[in-house]
This record gives sequence, C-alpha cells and structure tokens, in this order.
Amino acid sequence: MREAVVGASAPAQAADRVAERLRPFLTRPGLLAQPQCEGDPAGYRQHVLHTEPDGSFSVVALVWLPGQETPVHDHVSWCVTGVHEGEETEHRYRVVGGDGGERLLATEVIVNSAGEVGGFAPPGDIHLVRNSGSTRAISLHVYGADVGRLGSSIRRVYPQPRVSAQS
Ligand SMILES: [Fe+2]
Repeated sequence: MREAVVGASAPAQAADRVAERLRPFLTRPGLLAQPQCEGDPAGYRQHVLHTEPDGSFSVVALVWLPGQETPVHDHVSWCVTGVHEGEETEHRYRVVGGDGGERLLATEVIVNSAGEVGGFAPPGDIHLVRNSGSTRAISLHVYGADVGRLGSSIRRVYPQPRVSAQS
C-alpha cells in the first residue's frame, strides 16, 4: 500500500491502486485478530490497524452489528473500502436546493459483499453506510489521511432531509 500511495499522481489514482492491492487479502481467514473483530452494541466500531508514520494513509477495520449505520457524511481524503465479512449497503447522496432548503437527493445504492472493494476521492463522496444484513459485517478502510490523529475520516456530517428522485 505504501508503494501504491507514494507512486500515485492523484488522489483518485491512489484509491484505485490501493483497492487493487487490498482485494486479494479481503477474504483471507485470520486476516484480523479476534479483538479487531469486536463490535459495540452502541454503534459501529472503528479499530485503527495502521497509521503511516508520515500521515499519508491509515488502515482501519470497521465492525458493524446488524442494523448499525453511519450518519450521512463525506471525507477528508480519498478512501478505499473492502468487505471482509458480511454485507454492507452504501447509500449515496447529492446536495440539492439552497437558501436554507437544502436536501439530500438519493443517487445510488450499492451492496458490497465479502471480497468486494470500492474506492473514491472527494468531492462527490457523500454517503451513508449500513449493515443491512442479519450477521456482523467487517470492512477494511484505507484513507489518505492520518486517522490516528484525526479520530476518523469524516469531514462533515449532513443532517439535511433525505429525498428520493421524483419519478
Ligand atoms: Fe464513509
């Protein structure tokens, strides 16, 4: 991953290169130690696995019990996600309206199962992630930022009302 990040010419390319390197390891048995797989009934849980000494990237494991979800948010950096166990559903949004009438327009729903990876770079990275399965879900996330220092990769939370496209 270090090589992938250092050699990338742009954030989106870093995400693509890291995704390719993460994919083969995702479903490997014993990838994570047992404490790194522990969830929290109070909400999805983050285990920081690695922060690069120069702050250029971080690797975390996120553990979601059934029904747990993030707020709608975007990110401080590029991000790669890969599912290790279970299933995650990602809801993507775009901000529409203005003058105090902002809404979150649902644009896409993506379901990722174990072994599947995705990557993105801001802007246009507003989403919510939920475990909509009936079993625990664990995913690995790689961020182009020092999550150990920042606490999380979330740049901003979006409390605006959510709407679907008119059909
Ligand atoms: Fe996110």
